[in-house]
Amino acid sequence: MKTLPCLALVAYALGCASLLAAVPASPPARESAELAAQYEAVSRPQFIQGKKLVSLLSIETGDSVLDLGCGTGKLAEYVAKLVGPKGRVIGLDPSPERIAIAKKREAGRLSFQVAGSDDLSSFPSGSFDRIYLNYVFHWIDKKADTLWQIARILKPGGRVGLSTGAKDQPSRIQKLIRESVREALGELPPGLFLSPFRISAQELRTLAEQVGLRIIDLQILPFSDYAKDPDDVVAFLDASSSGKFLTGVGEEERRRIIALFKRKLAHLQTPRGIEMEHPAIFLIAEKPKERSAGTTDGRSNDQPSSARHSSSHPRSCRTVCGVSSPM
Ligand SMILES: C[S@@+](CC[C@H](N)C(=O)[O-])C[C@H]1O[C@@H](n2cnc3c(N)ncnc32)[C@H](O)[C@@H]1O
Repeated sequence: MKTLPCLALVAYALGCASLLAAVPASPPARESAELAAQYEAVSRPQFIQGKKLVSLLSIETGDSVLDLGCGTGKLAEYVAKLVGPKGRVIGLDPSPERIAIAKKREAGRLSFQVAGSDDLSSFPSGSFDRIYLNYVFHWIDKKADTLWQIARILKPGGRVGLSTGAKDQPSRIQKLIRESVREALGELPPGLFLSPFRISAQELRTLAEQVGLRIIDLQILPFSDYAKDPDDVVAFLDASSSGKFLTGVGEEERRRIIALFKRKLAHLQTPRGIEMEHPAIFLIAEKPKERSAGTTDGRSNDQPSSARHSSSHPRSCRTVCGVSSPM
């Protein structure tokens, strides 16, 4: 191996390690058919956010689209109408229970499979015009690997869109959860699962550029929805996290945290319900048409882009890039 590519590989590895260091492994999801059904019932906030993501992604009739982390498939069903009978939409989710619900939506060229971000290697290079991950990226620990695979399976000129929670902009609900944990246990235990895979917009930009994607749009948007009462908030968090919410401590400790959390939530009750505001990062990025990222020649894509060419700044970035939030 020549010196320069070798140095670039080391820099790439160090860059990823420093971005994503010290995150605990994801606990096994406490997924069940009940939680999946609950998600189908309470996922209006994700659906509204997803429609915004899809509109930014400019999906067209005839497009071939991958919905990675599709949940129960509501958004994929919506996208299937946009691409029409000449397009196709594939939804993937690692939860068999969610896919069982999604499969009831299968029709024409809309299909679903049990698979996650670790399973993209089976798709040939250049398979999709559009790939999106709606409120999924913060559940993925191997972010660089996932973006590599996405860059590989996008067609040249194809686009990826993702919406995800911003690490540096915790919502009011997230702050209350942390407060409740500290008050109940006196500390934040290291094993406690509290969205450890969140990323900042700046880190996301760096990762996307490292895999050779060109950033079209990067912004943080405010979203908000209402839960009926404290129980509803907890049900939403449980279902949205596939049961991972507040796992990693004993059942008794978890009960104490949740009791405190609900008492705090009760102070936020209004006649309309409890407002759940959640700022979200939106990224739209393109695989350049020229041969630079996720090339269509299969194996050569296993190499980080920094080993083949130096990372460049985006030629266009519609909004924040430096990233400030309207919140
Ligand atoms: C908050 S839900 C969002 C679901 C869907 N995108 C929507 O808009 O309703 C997060 C989803 O990410 C899925 N997920 C978790 N880890 C994943 C991974 N490594 N790869 C793909 N999906 C994953 C979960 O099973 C869950 O369905």
